[in-house]
Amino acid sequence: MERKTYSLTVFGCQMNERDAETLRGFLDELGYEETEDAANAHLVILNTCAVRQKAEEKVFGRIGRLGQLKEKNPEMIIAICGCMVQQEAVARRIKQKFPFVDLIFGTHNLSIFPELLVRAQKSEETVIDLWSDTPEVVEGLPVARQDNFKAWVNITFGCNNFCSYCIVPYVRGRERSRKPDDILREIKNLVKRGYKEVTLLGQNVNSYGKDLPEKIDFAELLTRVNDETGIKRIRFTTSHPRDFNEKLVKTMARGENICEHLHLPVQAGSNRILDLMNRGYTREQYLEKIALLREHIPHCAITTDIIVGFPGETEEDFAATLDLVDKVSFDAAFMFMYSPRPGTPAAKMPAQIPLEIKKERFARLLELQNKHSRRHNEALLGKKVEVLVEGPSKTDKTVWTGKTRSNKTVNFPGDGISAGQLVTVEITEIKTWSLMGRIHLD
Ligand code: SAH
Ligand code: SF4
Ligand code: F3S
Repeated sequence: MERKTYSLTVFGCQMNERDAETLRGFLDELGYEETEDAANAHLVILNTCAVRQKAEEKVFGRIGRLGQLKEKNPEMIIAICGCMVQQEAVARRIKQKFPFVDLIFGTHNLSIFPELLVRAQKSEETVIDLWSDTPEVVEGLPVARQDNFKAWVNITFGCNNFCSYCIVPYVRGRERSRKPDDILREIKNLVKRGYKEVTLLGQNVNSYGKDLPEKIDFAELLTRVNDETGIKRIRFTTSHPRDFNEKLVKTMARGENICEHLHLPVQAGSNRILDLMNRGYTREQYLEKIALLREHIPHCAITTDIIVGFPGETEEDFAATLDLVDKVSFDAAFMFMYSPRPGTPAAKMPAQIPLEIKKERFARLLELQNKHSRRHNEALLGKKVEVLVEGPSKTDKTVWTGKTRSNKTVNFPGDGISAGQLVTVEITEIKTWSLMGRIHLD
């Protein structure tokens, strides 16, 4: 019998990528096969993101095009899930504007996806199923991972921080931690199957454990992952500067399998803006934490997220961001123009910044950050680094691509190499976003 096929597109962050792996796990069990060919698929799923308006616009455009495909292939089931449709008003708007959509479900009911799919197949009209929150963590869901050498491992779900610009707490619910034993068991199983790297995932990993009956914090969890599982590379994201502390720095310094990379989103360099953002730290406190990290782990790569054009941001506030970027000298930064999210406090703040000014500030920030990224890369010239091979490069199939422990991309030629191997590469050429190298055989 012909196997049913599905096409799955993921927007947004690693949480959504990891959720997509659960969907793939369910679909494997249901006998579906993944296809790139959405036009002829039996099932098309969009796992959506709501963090900025652009992310939402992309999804609306895509649903419109799916409508045309469905006219030619009326049996097709279209499902929209994830953060964007967890907003009830958006889910209702989609149902009204695109009545051909079969199923809309949110971030909290992923665990009953097979049941929702059956309901959508039987229903004449769009099935909307949204839960307002998930009280507990559901363990034991199927998973079909994207890679067979590196894996995302959830440690917390949701967020309690309510940064004033951010939609995530509204669409991902309250913070919940997975039990340490469940996390450790998952990682030990990955090691048995040959995995080399895990990334521990949470919106704010530093608050891990606060809601658990046993006494454990993130630093202690990290120590256990390092000491008990045998995984070669441990990464984690995202750390919140407010909760990032000396205990964690020392844990990172001591744990030989914990990668020398910290992603610590600063968002802004002005204390006035940080306060309006409800971030809970000052630029001075942030700089102190960076100094502490550099003292204990001098070669640690540091990356960040920055928002430009937050409501009320003056030229002076923005200058403080540029100054902080210069002082810290980040290895890399994800930079965003502020995007008002309906329902968040910042969207209602006065003095919204015009797009032209946001663009102009963004360009200045980008130029400054590029200089620092390049400087950090240049420091690696001639050095030998450990690289986890990811596969052939997407842009140039004649070279391999992989990541250093500091999370930098390295491309290099070589024979007899395979994805998932840890190799030593000597850096021979510098580009702003990547490095070229040659395999070093001792
Ligand atoms: N929990 C993580 C990631 C949140 S979303 C953290 O706290 O860092 C990833 C990034 O998107 C944020 O760090 C922020 O820089 C950016 N972001 C979030 N909301 C935004 C908005 N409304 N406009 C522009 N950028 C935003
Ligand atoms: Fe959003 Fe702030 Fe939570 Fe990160 S910590 S997800 S930026 S509210
Ligand atoms: Fe991630 Fe976007 Fe949701 S950034 S948590 S997928 S809103």
